[in-house]
Amino acid sequence: MKYETLIIGAGAAGMMCAAHAGPGVLVVDHAKTPGEKIRISGGGRCNFTNLYAEPNNFISQNKHFCKSALAGYSQWDFIDLVGKHRIEWHEKTLGQLFCDNSAKDIITMLRAEMDRAGAQLWLRTSLNSLHYDGTHFTAELIKDSENIAITARQVVMAAGGKSIPKMGATGLGYQIAAQFDLPVITPRPGLVPLTFADDRFKSLAGTAAPARVHADGPDFDEAILFTHRGLSGPAILQASSYWDLGAPIHVNLNPAGDLFDQLKSQRSDNGRKDLTTILGQYLPARLVAHLGQELAFSGNIADQSDDQLRRICAALSDWQLTPTGSEGYRTAEVTLGGVDTDTLSSKTMGAKSVPGLYFIGECVDVTGWLGGYNFQWAWSSGYAAGQAI
Ligand code: FDA
Repeated sequence: MKYETLIIGAGAAGMMCAAHAGPGVLVVDHAKTPGEKIRISGGGRCNFTNLYAEPNNFISQNKHFCKSALAGYSQWDFIDLVGKHRIEWHEKTLGQLFCDNSAKDIITMLRAEMDRAGAQLWLRTSLNSLHYDGTHFTAELIKDSENIAITARQVVMAAGGKSIPKMGATGLGYQIAAQFDLPVITPRPGLVPLTFADDRFKSLAGTAAPARVHADGPDFDEAILFTHRGLSGPAILQASSYWDLGAPIHVNLNPAGDLFDQLKSQRSDNGRKDLTTILGQYLPARLVAHLGQELAFSGNIADQSDDQLRRICAALSDWQLTPTGSEGYRTAEVTLGGVDTDTLSSKTMGAKSVPGLYFIGECVDVTGWLGGYNFQWAWSSGYAAGQAI
C-alpha cells in the first residue's frame, strides 16, 4: 500500500502533525485508543498549554532549537483552535490552561482535525521494520496479527518518550534514530518524584509546604509534598528535570525571606512560647518537629539569641537534601534527552541526513517544564513537521 506520509504514534504530536500534513497520511499506533496520555493528563482535564510559554521554559542541549517551532505555532494558535471547537477552558495557576469539562474534548478535537485533513488512523498496529532506499520508506506493520507493507515518502516519528511504560511508552523514536545513525542525548526521567534512603521522610508522608526549590537550574516557587518514598509536589518535579544523581537539591522553606524578622518580633511578643510552636505558624507542625530533630533546635523562643535565630533561618532557607534516586520512568511525566537537535532542522523537524524522516514531540531533545509546556511542544513541533510535508 502506498501513502505519502506515515506517522508513527497517535499521541499529541502525531495527531497534530496528521491534521496539517496534507493528503495521503496514515497514522499508526499500537494502542487501542489514540491520545492516551492526553486523556489522563492534568487529572483528566489536560493542562493543554501555558499562557506564558516561551523558549526559556524548555530544556535542551541546544536552547535555541525550539524557538522557531514555538513561534510558528504558539500557545495563542492552540487557544484559537480550542476556541473554534468550542472547548471551554480556565486558567488554574501560573498561566496553566485546563479544559473545564474533560481532556477527552482535546482528543475529540484532534480526531476531528485529522478527519478534516483526510488522515487515516490504524490502531493496534505496530512497526516491525523500517527501510529506506534513498527516496522512499518501506514499513512492515503488524495490524491485528497481520503483516502489512506500506511505502511512504515521509515517515514522522511521534512515538513519545519512555515515560510510563504501562501506558505503552516504548522509546521507539530513539531506536529508529539509532538505525539511521542519528545521535540521541541519553534519555532520562523528568518531572519525577525524588526518593531518599532509609524511609527518611516516611513520617512526613502527606505533608505539603510552600517552598523555593532548585537543583542545577532555575528556582521554582511552588509546593513540595513529602511522600512515603521521598519528595514530590510541583516544585520538586520541576527541579527534578535539572537534577543529577549524587547532587543535592536546595529547598528554601523561607521563600518570602522574612522569617528572621518575624521570629525576632515573635521573641519580643511571645517570648515564653516554644520555638517549635512559633515555627508551626509558618510551616506544618509535623515538618517543624522533623526539622527540630534534624537541625537540633529546641527551647523557648526567648532563649534564642539573634545568632541562633539567624542559624535556624539560614538552615531553613537552604535545606540541602541529596536524593538517592527518582521514581524513574514508572511515574515520570516526561523523558528528558532524545534525538539530538543538531541533526534536525528547527524549521521542519526533518533529519538533515535522511530526507523525509521527521522526529516530533517528546522523542526530540526538547523537554518542557511542568504546566502545559510539554503539550505546547507537541503541538508546535507537530505543526512544524506537518507544514513542511
Ligand atoms: P505521546 O506519548 O503523547 O504519544 C506517543 C504515542 O506513540 C502513543 O499513543 C503511544 O501509544 C505510541 N507508541 C509508542 N511506542 C509505539 C510503538 N512502538 N509502536 C506504535 N505506537 C507507539 N504535559 C502537559 O503539557 N500538560 C499536562 O497536563 C501533562 N500531564 C501529564 C500527565 C501524565 C501522567 C503524563 C505521563 C504526562 C503528562 N504530560 C503533560 C506530558 C505529555 O503527556 C507528553 O509530553 C506528551 O504526551 C508528548 O506527546 P507525544 O505525542 O510526543 O507522545
